[in-house]
Amino acid sequence: MTHDTRIPGFHRLSPEQRRETVFGANPTVSDLFRTGGWDPSTSARWVEDVLGPMALPFSVAPNFVINGTPQWVPMVTEEPSVVAAAAHGAKLAAGRGGFFAQAGDAVATAQLQLQVTDPVTSWRLIEERSAELLALLAPLDPALIAHGGGPLQLECGGVFEDELIVHLHIATADAMGANVANTFAEALAPHLEGLTGGAVIGRILTNAFPRRLTRVRADFDVASLAHGDFSGALMADRILRLARWAERDPLRAVTHNKGILNGLLAVTAATANDTRAVAMAAAAHACGPDGLRSLSRWTRSGDGLTLSGELSLPLPLGTVGGLTVAHPLVRHVLEAIGLTSAARLCETTAACGLANHLAALRALAGEGIQAGHMALHRRKAGTDQ
Ligand code: MEV
Repeated sequence: MTHDTRIPGFHRLSPEQRRETVFGANPTVSDLFRTGGWDPSTSARWVEDVLGPMALPFSVAPNFVINGTPQWVPMVTEEPSVVAAAAHGAKLAAGRGGFFAQAGDAVATAQLQLQVTDPVTSWRLIEERSAELLALLAPLDPALIAHGGGPLQLECGGVFEDELIVHLHIATADAMGANVANTFAEALAPHLEGLTGGAVIGRILTNAFPRRLTRVRADFDVASLAHGDFSGALMADRILRLARWAERDPLRAVTHNKGILNGLLAVTAATANDTRAVAMAAAAHACGPDGLRSLSRWTRSGDGLTLSGELSLPLPLGTVGGLTVAHPLVRHVLEAIGLTSAARLCETTAACGLANHLAALRALAGEGIQAGHMALHRRKAGTDQ
């Protein structure tokens, strides 16, 4: 198995050669990719009314260096040029040390909607007893506690007429956290009712994940951004103008952010995580009072030599629970490429989002995205010569 993922000509290898580069000679991997990890005796039970599997291409993007360590990045996407864009963005970032990322604490938040005659007094009662209430929940998930997670805090999430919204924050360790948040919220509900005399209506996770931010930053050598007739300096200037456009115009911000989600969701899908949760968390984070805003920030150093990009967004991803461990292909790939902690997975996913974003902005600022994109579309259709 290779550790440095900067392999010249990786994109020209056959799928078999790529697998050998990433995993070494490994018959288990060959078998898993032949079946796509589908096991007729168990996979049909993953969801309901199954007819059979549907194959999508599973790729790994090379060139990523994240917090000083090389990383293969698994991606599943139907869109041509997204994997090439990630690899290209990562290569440009590697020239300046790669991506510097930090996954914040893994925290999920559940909300409980309590109908009660006096919401303010009810909140005081709950707050006074919060340590006791949290202690009741911990034994429900001993595995979570053993891995350093558990219920953290109760918070007032708002008062609406005769309703009190209670927030329950939970440390989720390596899990995405939806199941444990919903289990804890449902278990907490009767205790809140007993304490306040109210009735809990809704009790469910918020997919906004307001306490689960991942940050990533990368510097790019401005000279390396040169493209066709455009100098690196002109490209940096045009990228900054694109970034400013997205900051001012919600319609442009949607597409600008979509270039980030191209990377985020491809990694989310390849790791069998919940793509809808990641998409909604990102959208919620990007929402400002006047509509959608850019998820990224771009700046140029005073000497003009460095362009820096930053992303910060909630990433609800896990490496335990759900299909991430039940899917043999996903489990094997994650173990083999060292993506076994939720923190590293969040950092890698954010880095991929930023790599895709830079590559999209660079194409847009240069000759436009269609030249490269359409060549890849033709290759997909088998009509290129
Ligand atoms: C296409 O999948 C993504 C882009 O539209 C992103 C952008 O406009 O910044 C190229």
